[in-house]
Amino acid sequence: MKTIIEPFRIKSVEPLAFTTKEQRTQYLAEAHYNPFLLPANRVLMDFLTDSGTGAMSAQQWGAMMIGDESYAGSDSFYRFQEAVQEIFGFKHVIPTHQGRAAERILFSIAGGEGKAIPNNTHFDTTRANIEYSGAEALDLVIDEGKDPQARHPFKGNIDLDKLRAFLQETPKEKIPLGMITVTNNSGGGQPVSMANIRAVSELLHEYGIPFFIDSCRFAENAWFIKMREEGYQDKTPLEIAQEMFSYADGATMSAKKDAMVNIGGFLTMNDDALAEQCRNLLILTEGFPTYGGLAGRDLDAMSVGLREVVDENYLRYRIAVTEYFGSKLRDAGVQIVEPPGGHAIYIDARAFCPHLDALQYPGWALTLDMYEEIGIRAVEIGTVMFGKKDEHGKDVPSAMDLVRLTIPRRVYTQSHIDYAAEGIIALYNQRESIRGVRIVKEPPFLRHFTAQFERI
Ligand code: F0G
Repeated sequence: MKTIIEPFRIKSVEPLAFTTKEQRTQYLAEAHYNPFLLPANRVLMDFLTDSGTGAMSAQQWGAMMIGDESYAGSDSFYRFQEAVQEIFGFKHVIPTHQGRAAERILFSIAGGEGKAIPNNTHFDTTRANIEYSGAEALDLVIDEGKDPQARHPFKGNIDLDKLRAFLQETPKEKIPLGMITVTNNSGGGQPVSMANIRAVSELLHEYGIPFFIDSCRFAENAWFIKMREEGYQDKTPLEIAQEMFSYADGATMSAKKDAMVNIGGFLTMNDDALAEQCRNLLILTEGFPTYGGLAGRDLDAMSVGLREVVDENYLRYRIAVTEYFGSKLRDAGVQIVEPPGGHAIYIDARAFCPHLDALQYPGWALTLDMYEEIGIRAVEIGTVMFGKKDEHGKDVPSAMDLVRLTIPRRVYTQSHIDYAAEGIIALYNQRESIRGVRIVKEPPFLRHFTAQFERI
């Protein structure tokens, strides 16, 4: 059988929000041409993010009913700790309300003025938490990882020569830890090979530096290793994930991705002294160490989600969806970041709208037309989001203007993807009609969330 089917049947459904184009034209104006300001009940299909937007299983909902809401030492925590340790294998497990809370705790302790933390590509919140502590966030992804058309099986790999050079020229006490993000979200959801994880681990350890994995999409990464890396075909995703983490000293996790929950995260590590400091900070801002800002039932949903995400039938389907969506667009001539990554398709908006100048924000403009024409919501990852300015306060175009169509887990069916792809292809065939935008109001940082625009 050729067709890869959704490995679930549906017990509970939510209606989609159908609107007319005339309504959407009006809604866009009301939202000041910013998709983040659109109420979700005006969106037909939401491809804004895969974070916390997945569908939980009946087993997860069932597990929530046995959540133990004891303030200290709840049963739910012990079940959660066991599930995390089975995959990650670290001694200490510290729950947090989401990924960035784990990052904030880790970098409040490990970061600080004069320090530097290398990664393949830091995700925005990781970078922001590192920079907020006064430290520098360094991106050392391989060159292929920055070229949308380069077809490399592991475009999320770290450039080992650059990492070695950095380690040689930087005093050891300035590097509190090194990281790798699996999959590399900011680089297109691209995987990292086991060989690269192993080599990064060896290199960092040679210099006595701890190695942490930003593990939000660890199961998707494990699947790519199984499919693409010699020697892993016969291993299970669980075994592959266990090996990935065996090379590291700790991990940060946004459970809103590969733990298949709507809220949650954790920090996990081997170092006793560091864990103690993290727990002390956790108590200050998140909560007692056995709940960390979550309800007992949330911990149970995570425990079950972590076991479901390493299921082969699930991962085969998950990665097939992304490839299917990408191939439909590619076959119609739409340029995307190649090959499709794990959780999203990234459209090259400059290639889609060659008639627009980078400072007419082609990525942003494309997301507006996608909403108006098709009713779907996507996210610009480009000049608006990165918001770099020159010394005169004028915008600097970012390296690429991309539009990310992020696929929530277990939410949309194949016909939904067909519909979205059909709409995007129709839009591509009338692409000259897409109008650029200008910014009329913007906040001082993270402007994409609240800025207001008008069409040119
Ligand atoms: N690390 C990576 C690689 C991420 O993709 C995210 C979130 C985080 C850390 C932070 O986790 O949201 O739970 O605080 N990414 C989401 C996205 C927001 O849309 O890509 P969080």
